[in-house]
Amino acid sequence: MLLIVSGGIAAYKAVYLCRGLRQAGAQVDVILTPAGEHFVGRVTFGALTGRRVYRDVWEEPLAHVTLGREADIAVVAPATADILARLAHGLAGDMATATLLAAACPLLVCPAMNVRMWEHPATRRNMEALRADGVHVLGPDHGELAEGEVGYGRMAEPDEILAKLGHLLAPPSPWSGRRVVVTAGPTRAPIDAVRFISNHSSGRMGFALAEAAWRRGADVVLISGPTEVAPPDGPRRIDVETADEMLDALRAELADASVLLMAAAVGDYRIGAPSNDKIKREQMRELPLKLEAEKDLLTETSALRREQGVFTLGFALETQDAVENGRRKLDKGLDLIAVNVVGPETGFGTSTNRVTLVSPSGDAEEWPLLPKQEVAERLLDRIETEFSGNSK
Ligand code: CTP
Repeated sequence: MLLIVSGGIAAYKAVYLCRGLRQAGAQVDVILTPAGEHFVGRVTFGALTGRRVYRDVWEEPLAHVTLGREADIAVVAPATADILARLAHGLAGDMATATLLAAACPLLVCPAMNVRMWEHPATRRNMEALRADGVHVLGPDHGELAEGEVGYGRMAEPDEILAKLGHLLAPPSPWSGRRVVVTAGPTRAPIDAVRFISNHSSGRMGFALAEAAWRRGADVVLISGPTEVAPPDGPRRIDVETADEMLDALRAELADASVLLMAAAVGDYRIGAPSNDKIKREQMRELPLKLEAEKDLLTETSALRREQGVFTLGFALETQDAVENGRRKLDKGLDLIAVNVVGPETGFGTSTNRVTLVSPSGDAEEWPLLPKQEVAERLLDRIETEFSGNSK
C-alpha cells in the first residue's frame, strides 16, 4: 500500500500509522512531499518500512506509475489543504500527486489543517470534488489545533485510520454496502438538572456487534447511550442520552437500513415531569418520584421496520424463565432474539455472555459462555444466512 505524508504538524502521527500498518502485516511504500520532509525525515520511514522512501519524481522516473499500479490502497495522512486542492484539480507536478493520478487503487485522505483553512469555500469545493470522484475521507476531528485554536482540523488518530483502511480493504461480503443500525448502552431518564435513573449497561455487546459488522464491510451506524467503555473506532456514532433521543436517531437512521441490532438497555420508566432546576435535598426527602412507562422503541419502530424490510435482532435480559420471556418479546416485531440471563459472567458490564437464541419458529438454541466478540460474530453469521433471497 501507499502512504503519502504531506506537510503538516500531524506528520508525526503518520509515523505511528506507518508502524501500525507494518504491524498489521502491510508492505508500505512511503512518499514524502518536500513540505512533509520538513516535519519528519526519510530515515524514519525508511527504517520502519525497510523500503525506499520517495520524494522526487526524478529520482526514479517510472516509480510514479509503478507504485500506484502495485498498491491495493493509498492513504494521504496528513492531507494538507494544498495537496487536497492539487488532487481535486488533477495536478501532477510532484511525486505524490503524479503517483496518485496514475494510481488505480482506492484513495483515503485524512485532512489536517487550521480550522479556517478547512472551512474556506475553496477547500469545501475541493472536498466536494474529491468525494464526487470516489475519494474516501476520514476526519478531520474536532479539538485543539497546533496554533491553540479549537475546531475541526485535527488529523484522525492512527488507530482510526487503520480501522478505516481495514474496512475499505474488506473483501466483498454479504454485508458490503448494507446499512446496519446498532443501538448500545443504557438510556437515562432525567429526574432534575443533575440526576437521572439509568441502568448498569456498559454498551459492550452493542459495541462488539457494531465493530464486527463494520469489519465485514457493512455501513454501520452506532447509536449509543452514555457509557465509560470506549466505542469502536470505525462505525459512525450518534451519542444519545434519553430514550426519546434514541428513538429520534433510530427513526432517522432506519430509513435505508437492512439490519437493526437492538442491544441497548433502554429504560422502562421515565419521570413524569423532570425539574429543570436541581431539586434541593430538603425537597428530595419527601419527593414522590412519579414514574411513567417509557416508550418501547422496538414497538414504536415496528411499522417502519416492517415497511422497510429491516431484519431485527433484539436482546432480552432476564433473571428467570429466560426462553419463555424471550419468546414473548419477539412480538415487538423481532426476527430473532438473543436472551441472556443475568449471572456472574453474563449480562451487564461483563466481557462474556451466555446467550440463548430464540426464533419465531420457537426454536431455542443455547450457546456456551463466550466472549462478547465471539457472540457478536456468531450472531452476524446467523443473520448472514437470512440474507440469501433478500437483496436489500
Ligand atoms: N427495548 C426497547 N424499548 C424499551 C425497552 C426495551 O426497544 N423501552 C428493547 C431492548 O433494546 C431489547 C428488547 O426491547 O432489544 C427487550 O428488552 P428488555 O429490557 O429485555 O425487555 P422489556 O420489554 O423492557 O421487558 P421487561 O423489562 O419486562 O423484561
